[in-house]
Amino acid sequence: MSGRPIIDISGLSKLYARGLPALRELTLAVERGEFIFITGPSGAGKSTLLRLLLLQDRPSNGRIVVNGYDLSTLSKAQIQEYRRGIGFVFQDFRLIPAKTVLENVCFVAEVLGMTESQQKRRAFQVLKSVGLQHRMNAYPAELSGGEQQRVAIARALTSDPSLLLADEPTGNLDPDLALEIMNLFREINAGGTTVIVATHDRELIRLVGCRTLMLDQGTIVEVA
Ligand SMILES: Nc1ncnc2c1ncn2[C@@H]1O[C@H](COP(=O)(O)OP(=O)(O)OP(=O)(O)O)[C@@H](O)[C@H]1O
Ligand SMILES: [Mg+2]
Repeated sequence: MSGRPIIDISGLSKLYARGLPALRELTLAVERGEFIFITGPSGAGKSTLLRLLLLQDRPSNGRIVVNGYDLSTLSKAQIQEYRRGIGFVFQDFRLIPAKTVLENVCFVAEVLGMTESQQKRRAFQVLKSVGLQHRMNAYPAELSGGEQQRVAIARALTSDPSLLLADEPTGNLDPDLALEIMNLFREINAGGTTVIVATHDRELIRLVGCRTLMLDQGTIVEVA
């Protein structure tokens, strides 16, 4: 384990063409193995921060270093390599409806370059780790919301990422299921993966109880 933070952000700003800055000179270090919540009101900049970490968008100013990669200087090939080290989970699951649970996960394993037998083995492994191996032949529409999110999490774990980012992963789930999904994230974190979850759900954060960054208008206003 290195002593360097897995995420090192300094002076990060993001301005869109119109409106107030989405992020303002944000500075943040996340240690390897941490579990962090990012919370704050709608429009605070939570999704913007995660999008910048995933290189789905570029900062207006400032520096982001993740896993030793300075995100502003990566070549196309390095961007692919960098993204493979990161798992991402969204509020709306984003499963492929025409593929079974197993096929949804195998699809990612295939993109990672695994052979067919490796794909199946890996997919079974990650589905087992989220407790869904018995549903692997079901289609997404045959699953509950919580189960669908588990599949999405399994899919995000396929590349064995060092960092897992989740944007409102429980936004479509009832409170009981939301807590279950958070506990799954805690388990994944206990296995060594650094986890960052953006959520506006303060009650859920209270129940889980982790380092929490509160964003407001693009800056960190509180660390609890
Ligand atoms: N593509 C975009 N173009 C212009 N402005 C944007 C864009 N995306 C976000 N913004 C603005 O940036 C600010 C931060 O948005 P962001 O989506 O990061 O907030 P958030 O904290 O994730 O909010 P929510 O809790 O509603 O998901 C908002 O003022 C928003 O309107
Ligand atoms: Mg958001």
